[in-house]
Amino acid sequence: MGTLELRDVVKHYAGGAETVKAVDGVSLTVAGGEFIALYGPSGSGKTTLLMLAAALASPDSGSILFDGRDIGEFSERDGARYRRVDVGFVFQTFHLLAHTSALDNATIKLTGDGCTLREARRRALPWLERVGLAERVEQTPETLSMGERQRVAIARALANEPRLLLADEPTGNLDSRRSREVIALMRDICHERAIPGVLVTHDSDATRFVDRVYTLRDGHLADGMDPQLAASSL
Ligand SMILES: Nc1ncnc2c1ncn2[C@@H]1O[C@H](COP(=O)(O)OP(=O)(O)OP(=O)(O)O)[C@@H](O)[C@H]1O
Ligand SMILES: [Mg+2]
Repeated sequence: MGTLELRDVVKHYAGGAETVKAVDGVSLTVAGGEFIALYGPSGSGKTTLLMLAAALASPDSGSILFDGRDIGEFSERDGARYRRVDVGFVFQTFHLLAHTSALDNATIKLTGDGCTLREARRRALPWLERVGLAERVEQTPETLSMGERQRVAIARALANEPRLLLADEPTGNLDSRRSREVIALMRDICHERAIPGVLVTHDSDATRFVDRVYTLRDGHLADGMDPQLAASSL
């Protein structure tokens, strides 16, 4: 059973005049079967933490372990394999392929991992149905609403049955009912498949449907803060 573990992770960005400390000593563990929220205001380091967990960036210090393996030690090839096979990532900006049907967008990781297109479509279709897009599978992103695009991105992240789910503001474009459904779906997947999941959000309502909430401020964890209370002081 995979566990995601962050140990004293620090990440800076070298900007123009000054260096930004985007992540400032974060330690947390997400066990298999647990769906947590990283909650915090804009600029608090949420996306940066997800990028580090997905091996899309490396920490300046500290370590990140998945399933006991230090992902900072991965070769480029290991990192690519980890992202392709182990990680299901829902990007804040979707990253869907234009002029490509919802169904074929959802198959990308499967075909990238050697599935035939026919097999990939067979496996991806139930995920599009599960996010409520059964009627939209042939439509391209340009013809879908923002919320529908977001749900395609979620189906794509789940279609290859990842061992770790990372979702960056996956409900930013959804209404509150759909948002609750999508979060509950991701939580249920994590529970069913016993995989760790991390939801990044600045929506305090979204945090009601996860197993545990970590509040981020200026790149570090503010322990034990009730997100509803924290929301009133953001
Ligand atoms: N590539 C970059 N170069 C320089 N600074 C960056 C870069 N990416 C992020 N930052 C800075 O790091 C900090 C954390 O950014 P991050 O994107 O992780 O925040 P966030 O919590 O995801 O915000 P949001 O809710 O707006 O998406 C911010 O101050 C941001 O300006
Ligand atoms: Mg972000």
